Amino acid sequence: MAESLKMKIAVLGATGQTGQYLVNQALQQGHTVTAIVRNPGKLSLHHDNLKMVEADIFSADSLKTHFKGQDVIMSCLGFPVSFFSAVTGYTLSMNSVISAMRESGVNRIITMSSWFTEPNSARQSPYVIRFLLLPIIRGVLNNMHEMEKLLETSEDINWTVVRPPGLKNLPASAQEFLTHEGYFVPNSGGNAVGRGDVGFSCQKKKKRRSGGNNGINEGSVQPKNTNLL
Ligand SMILES: NC(=O)c1ccc[n+]([C@@H]2O[C@H](COP(=O)([O-])OP(=O)(O)OC[C@H]3O[C@@H](n4cnc5c(N)ncnc54)[C@H](OP(=O)(O)O)[C@@H]3O)[C@@H](O)[C@H]2O)c1
Repeated sequence: MAESLKMKIAVLGATGQTGQYLVNQALQQGHTVTAIVRNPGKLSLHHDNLKMVEADIFSADSLKTHFKGQDVIMSCLGFPVSFFSAVTGYTLSMNSVISAMRESGVNRIITMSSWFTEPNSARQSPYVIRFLLLPIIRGVLNNMHEMEKLLETSEDINWTVVRPPGLKNLPASAQEFLTHEGYFVPNSGGNAVGRGDVGFSCQKKKKRRSGGNNGINEGSVQPKNTNLL
């Protein structure tokens, strides 16, 4: 890989199921990864280009030291549904992340939410998803949606939200995925995609997408040739 295409990537949620695929893929592509974690014991991977640091995702002060010098922040953070209190992890952590990005001079973030954050998105879904699963996880989806709105109003931040449908623990496949900014692409991989196929493309973007680089990529995952950086 050409030197210019190697990036410094800070990964939040690196110990999670999607995060571990992302870290592996980024390292395989020659990038330098700083995994920002709360529990270093959960990531057993060792690599010359991998640094693991502990930080508090709810503290801009804690994050900014590790953000300094990074080309991009990638987040696979996830917060469980709670029947006793509102889910707030997505917005609270994103507030800290955005503040830390501003303070450390990092401008680009790619994060993930869910296709179902958009209230009308379930119309084509099977009944079991629409009337059983989604009501159970509504608190998570609502907070993800608030996080998306937070990014939409952060005009100085260059952001992309990847909205996959369901996720399965499968490595990257050779399959091409059709996606589109702004609306759901039916038949683009079914109701679930492999976590290895969630498209945090690690190639450096040479040219900005028309209309700016901010956007919510809905429906599935990024096609293999889509540059998000
Ligand atoms: N499951 C699905 O079908 C589906 C579909 C669409 C979108 N999504 C969303 O996609 C995202 C990634 O999913 P996933 O299944 O890969 O998630 P996951 O395996 O649950 O991983 C979540 C990550 O967030 C980290 N995290 C949570 N709370 C934290 C805290 N307070 N401080 C620091 N780190 C914290 C976890 O750290 P630890 O390892 O230390 O716990 C872990 O690394 C989630 O937002 C999920 O809701 C899921």
